[in-house]
Amino acid sequence: MSAAYPLDPRNHWPAVPAMPVLPHGWALGRMSALDLAAVAGIEARAYSHPWTRGNFENSVKSGHLGLTLRDPAGTLVAYAVLMPVVDEMHLLNITVEPRRQRQGLGRLMLAVVLATSHAHRIHTMLLEVRPSNTGAIALYQAAGFAEIGRRKGYYPALGSKREDALVLRRSWPAESAANEGTEGRA
Ligand SMILES: CC(C)(COP(=O)(O)OP(=O)(O)OC[C@H]1O[C@@H](n2cnc3c(N)ncnc32)[C@H](O)[C@@H]1OP(=O)(O)O)[C@@H](O)C(=O)NCCC(=O)NCCS
Repeated sequence: MSAAYPLDPRNHWPAVPAMPVLPHGWALGRMSALDLAAVAGIEARAYSHPWTRGNFENSVKSGHLGLTLRDPAGTLVAYAVLMPVVDEMHLLNITVEPRRQRQGLGRLMLAVVLATSHAHRIHTMLLEVRPSNTGAIALYQAAGFAEIGRRKGYYPALGSKREDALVLRRSWPAESAANEGTEGRA
């Protein structure tokens, strides 16, 4: 088990996303077919209703942007899947290996995701989240996302029930303003 990832816990989210500097030995990658077993394994441990390996395979094949994060031992510990739709980036999936959660990796991965969108010149990000997922919502709000709507019965839930999705969005300027601050926006 590694030590906690040394990210600043005070939630400094820049007004214009910037790629975080990874500590020595940590590595970002583009999700490939070689990652699917590890990704699907984490997914199955992290969710009550996980994506399947086939879902990830189709996603990668259809051109979605899959990102992976590996620790210095080379272990895949987090991933995200992004889908560009014209001038909006949809965050379809962001997940941290359950044994490595609450160590700052979700914050790091979200910063990477926002910076990746910015690098693709897409300055609006949308995502859906279960209202019951209060930890993820806290993270998104700290990163400047705001609720813009709700999709009724969007997610499967336990039994044959359904759960709504909250739709969250964050937009940011295409370029840094001269007087840009670095404080969190939420
Ligand atoms: C949501 C998720 C990506 C967050 O990753 P993480 O590495 O655990 O989060 P971090 O350690 O970076 O936490 C960042 C902040 O988010 C909030 N947060 C994250 N998890 C939380 C939890 N379980 N309870 C309360 N707050 C939480 C906190 O504000 C936290 O800051 P703090 O630790 O300084 O208090 C991760 O929990 C996960 O993979 N969950 C399962 C999959 C999932 O729900 N993905 C999102 C789908 S929309």
